[in-house]
Amino acid sequence: MTTIVDKCSPEAYIRELFEKNGPDRDDFDDIMELIDKVSADDVEPFRELMNGILNPATIIGFSFTKPFGYNGDFFIIEKIYQQYVNPDPRYRKWDEFFHRLPAAIAVINRKKLAVDMLHKLNRNAGGEPRHVLILGSGPVTEVFEYFTETEGNNLYFDLIDLDQRAIDYAKSKHRANLSYLNFQNKNVIRHVPDKKYDLLWSAGLFDYFKDKHFVFLLKRYYEFVAEGGEMVIGNFNVENPSRKIMEVLGDWFLYHRSEEELLGFARQADIPEDCTSVIREPLGINLFLYVAKK
Ligand SMILES: C[S@@+](CC[C@H](N)C(=O)[O-])C[C@H]1O[C@@H](n2cnc3c(N)ncnc32)[C@H](O)[C@@H]1O
Repeated sequence: MTTIVDKCSPEAYIRELFEKNGPDRDDFDDIMELIDKVSADDVEPFRELMNGILNPATIIGFSFTKPFGYNGDFFIIEKIYQQYVNPDPRYRKWDEFFHRLPAAIAVINRKKLAVDMLHKLNRNAGGEPRHVLILGSGPVTEVFEYFTETEGNNLYFDLIDLDQRAIDYAKSKHRANLSYLNFQNKNVIRHVPDKKYDLLWSAGLFDYFKDKHFVFLLKRYYEFVAEGGEMVIGNFNVENPSRKIMEVLGDWFLYHRSEEELLGFARQADIPEDCTSVIREPLGINLFLYVAKK
């Protein structure tokens, strides 16, 4: 089938998009198709064409320019959660396009998965305190939503993040619940917990780590999961239809991993096989290594 992208040059097509201040809904598939065709040699010229939005005013440009020094900072994740759209007409449609990317939807889905797990842990607590550790806690939005929906909380959170700006932001957002939250500005690689946890959750973090670090951290933190407790570690799936756009326009590179790879890491970390499985959010783009410690 011949599409609009085949009918005109990429330059002409992108120029047209900019002339109308960004893509409309019916352009989304064509842009994705165009970006999927960008070869390694064409990445820089393509970025030149897209230069008008590769600045912090758009979400994808925020990723590209990395004002906080790295991709996947708390601020961009929060923009995804809040479905933030820059009201400036030069950028609005591009942000709307970003929020329709399957990967962005998967990030919102994974937050819901976390909120559901927190509710379940609280429901089953029987009035006893339960301890939760979150690695790479970022904006702490899943905990925020959990508190918004909860009366009678039994959960106490240790929240570890390397970026003090993330902690300051999360603290300001969580003023009402600070007595349940213990923020620690630390690197998860160096951090050694001083207690065992009923739930250890991490999303948007392990996909930045090499395999050997992934396994090292699994082994370390499994020690600090209480008997009967759970550990849930998120990672982008190798099947991610938004991978190319994240890499080409967002300069956002992650270690994408399959279910088999995640289970293999658990084996390498000496976690018993009958404790492990892989769960996924509804789009299957974010996988989670799930460990139920016996
Ligand atoms: C993509 S965000 C995910 C935030 C949150 N988990 C979520 O899913 O909404 C990753 C967070 O991990 C933090 N981070 C990255 N590397 C870290 C490390 N080595 N130790 C602790 N935190 C780290 C970043 O500062 C950032 O806030």
